[in-house]
Amino acid sequence: MNGTFLKEIEALFDENVIGSLANIASAIYHEVNDLNWVGYYFIKDRYLYLGPFSGKVACSILTLDKGVCAKAVRDRSVTYIKDVHAIEDHIACDSASASELVLPLYKDKKVIGVLDIDAPITDRFTEFEIELFKDISSMISTYLEAHPPLS
Ligand code: SME
Repeated sequence: MNGTFLKEIEALFDENVIGSLANIASAIYHEVNDLNWVGYYFIKDRYLYLGPFSGKVACSILTLDKGVCAKAVRDRSVTYIKDVHAIEDHIACDSASASELVLPLYKDKKVIGVLDIDAPITDRFTEFEIELFKDISSMISTYLEAHPPLS
Protein backbone atom coordinates (compact mmCIF):
# COMPACT_ATOMS: atom_id res chain seq x y z
CA MET A 1 0.00 0.00 0.00
CA ASN A 2 1.55 3.30 -1.13
CA GLY A 3 0.94 6.53 -3.06
CA THR A 4 -0.16 4.58 -6.14
CA PHE A 5 -2.89 2.96 -4.05
CA LEU A 6 -4.06 6.43 -2.91
CA LYS A 7 -4.29 7.51 -6.58
CA GLU A 8 -6.31 4.41 -7.35
CA ILE A 9 -8.69 5.22 -4.49
CA GLU A 10 -8.98 8.82 -5.69
CA ALA A 11 -10.08 7.61 -9.14
CA LEU A 12 -13.04 5.74 -7.59
CA PHE A 13 -14.97 8.84 -6.49
CA ASP A 14 -17.80 9.87 -8.80
CA GLU A 15 -21.35 11.23 -8.51
CA ASN A 16 -22.75 7.91 -7.28
CA VAL A 17 -22.26 8.15 -3.51
CA ILE A 18 -23.15 4.57 -2.59
CA GLY A 19 -21.27 3.20 -5.60
CA SER A 20 -18.15 5.23 -4.84
CA LEU A 21 -18.12 4.21 -1.17
CA ALA A 22 -18.74 0.57 -2.11
CA ASN A 23 -15.90 0.58 -4.64
CA ILE A 24 -13.48 2.10 -2.15
CA ALA A 25 -14.37 -0.53 0.47
CA SER A 26 -13.90 -3.24 -2.17
CA ALA A 27 -10.56 -1.82 -3.34
CA ILE A 28 -9.21 -1.78 0.21
CA TYR A 29 -10.58 -5.25 0.97
CA HIS A 30 -9.16 -6.87 -2.15
CA GLU A 31 -5.87 -5.04 -2.47
CA VAL A 32 -4.67 -4.87 1.11
CA ASN A 33 -3.68 -8.28 2.41
CA ASP A 34 -5.05 -9.94 5.55
CA LEU A 35 -8.33 -8.08 6.02
CA ASN A 36 -11.69 -9.74 6.69
CA TRP A 37 -14.07 -6.78 6.65
CA VAL A 38 -13.99 -3.21 5.31
CA GLY A 39 -16.98 -0.88 5.39
CA TYR A 40 -18.81 2.10 6.79
CA TYR A 41 -21.28 3.00 9.49
CA PHE A 42 -23.13 6.31 9.29
CA ILE A 43 -24.85 8.16 12.13
CA LYS A 44 -28.56 8.80 11.97
CA ASP A 45 -30.94 9.44 14.89
CA ARG A 46 -28.27 8.52 17.45
CA TYR A 47 -27.55 5.13 15.89
CA LEU A 48 -24.85 3.85 13.55
CA TYR A 49 -26.29 2.42 10.35
CA LEU A 50 -24.36 -0.06 8.22
CA GLY A 51 -23.24 1.36 4.87
CA PRO A 52 -21.53 -0.25 1.89
CA PHE A 53 -18.96 -2.89 2.79
CA SER A 54 -16.91 -5.86 1.64
CA GLY A 55 -16.85 -8.94 3.83
CA LYS A 56 -19.34 -11.13 5.65
CA VAL A 57 -22.80 -9.99 6.74
CA ALA A 58 -22.42 -7.49 9.62
CA CYS A 59 -24.49 -5.84 12.34
CA SER A 60 -26.94 -3.51 10.59
CA ILE A 61 -27.57 -1.03 13.41
CA LEU A 62 -25.23 -0.21 16.32
CA THR A 63 -25.86 2.00 19.32
CA LEU A 64 -23.52 4.86 20.12
CA ASP A 65 -22.69 3.57 23.59
CA LYS A 66 -21.11 0.22 22.77
CA GLY A 67 -18.36 -1.12 20.52
CA VAL A 68 -15.23 0.15 18.87
CA CYS A 69 -17.02 2.09 16.11
CA ALA A 70 -19.13 3.96 18.67
CA LYS A 71 -16.02 4.70 20.75
CA ALA A 72 -14.27 6.24 17.72
CA VAL A 73 -17.34 8.44 17.18
CA ARG A 74 -17.54 9.51 20.84
CA ASP A 75 -13.78 10.19 21.05
CA ARG A 76 -13.62 11.80 17.58
CA SER A 77 -10.38 9.93 17.02
CA VAL A 78 -8.79 7.15 15.01
CA THR A 79 -9.14 4.06 17.17
CA TYR A 80 -6.84 1.09 16.75
CA ILE A 81 -7.55 -2.02 18.80
CA LYS A 82 -4.58 -4.36 18.42
CA ASP A 83 -6.40 -7.30 20.04
CA VAL A 84 -10.19 -7.12 20.07
CA HIS A 85 -10.37 -10.18 22.33
CA ALA A 86 -8.50 -8.26 25.03
CA ILE A 87 -11.23 -5.65 25.45
CA GLU A 88 -14.86 -6.00 26.55
CA ASP A 89 -16.15 -3.12 24.50
CA HIS A 90 -15.98 -4.85 21.13
CA ILE A 91 -18.91 -6.09 19.08
CA ALA A 92 -17.98 -9.26 17.21
CA CYS A 93 -19.95 -9.03 13.97
CA ASP A 94 -17.43 -11.34 12.30
CA SER A 95 -15.83 -13.82 14.68
CA ALA A 96 -12.71 -13.85 12.46
CA SER A 97 -11.80 -10.28 13.48
CA ALA A 98 -8.72 -10.09 15.70
CA SER A 99 -7.69 -6.44 15.28
CA GLU A 100 -9.72 -3.43 14.23
CA LEU A 101 -9.00 0.06 12.92
CA VAL A 102 -11.82 2.63 12.99
CA LEU A 103 -11.43 6.04 11.37
CA PRO A 104 -14.04 8.79 11.93
CA LEU A 105 -15.52 10.47 8.85
CA TYR A 106 -16.44 14.15 9.03
CA LYS A 107 -18.81 16.61 7.40
CA ASP A 108 -18.73 20.27 8.47
CA LYS A 109 -16.29 19.20 11.23
CA LYS A 110 -18.93 16.88 12.72
CA VAL A 111 -18.38 13.13 12.84
CA ILE A 112 -21.02 11.60 10.56
CA GLY A 113 -19.75 8.04 10.43
CA VAL A 114 -16.73 5.77 10.39
CA LEU A 115 -14.59 3.69 8.07
CA ASP A 116 -14.16 0.34 9.84
CA ILE A 117 -11.35 -2.04 8.86
CA ASP A 118 -11.10 -5.48 10.47
CA ALA A 119 -8.23 -7.94 10.25
CA PRO A 120 -8.03 -11.63 11.21
CA ILE A 121 -4.56 -11.10 12.71
CA THR A 122 -3.69 -9.53 16.06
CA ASP A 123 -1.86 -6.18 15.69
CA ARG A 124 -2.27 -6.30 11.90
CA PHE A 125 -1.65 -2.61 11.12
CA THR A 126 1.71 -0.80 10.98
CA GLU A 127 2.00 2.91 11.78
CA PHE A 128 2.73 3.52 8.10
CA GLU A 129 -0.49 1.78 7.06
CA ILE A 130 -2.52 3.64 9.67
CA GLU A 131 -1.20 6.93 8.22
CA LEU A 132 -2.25 5.82 4.73
CA PHE A 133 -5.70 4.86 5.96
CA LYS A 134 -5.93 8.30 7.61
CA ASP A 135 -5.19 9.81 4.18
CA ILE A 136 -7.94 7.68 2.64
CA SER A 137 -10.44 8.62 5.36
CA SER A 138 -9.58 12.32 4.80
CA MET A 139 -10.27 11.88 1.09
CA ILE A 140 -13.62 10.26 1.92
CA SER A 141 -14.50 13.08 4.36
CA THR A 142 -13.70 15.68 1.69
CA TYR A 143 -15.96 13.83 -0.74
CA LEU A 144 -18.75 13.53 1.87
CA GLU A 145 -18.78 17.34 2.34
CA ALA A 146 -20.60 17.52 -0.99
CA HIS A 147 -22.10 14.02 -1.04
CA PRO A 148 -23.97 13.22 2.20
CA PRO A 149 -24.61 9.46 2.46
CA LEU A 150 -27.77 9.58 4.62
CA SER A 151 -30.43 12.25 4.75
N1 SME B 1 -16.53 -4.49 15.71
C1 SME B 1 -17.36 -3.33 15.56
C2 SME B 1 -18.71 -3.67 14.99
C3 SME B 1 -18.77 -3.62 13.52
S1 SME B 1 -18.09 -4.94 12.77
O1 SME B 1 -16.69 -5.05 13.08
C4 SME B 1 -18.30 -4.85 11.12
C5 SME B 1 -17.51 -2.60 16.88
O2 SME B 1 -17.07 -3.11 17.92
O3 SME B 1 -18.06 -1.50 16.89
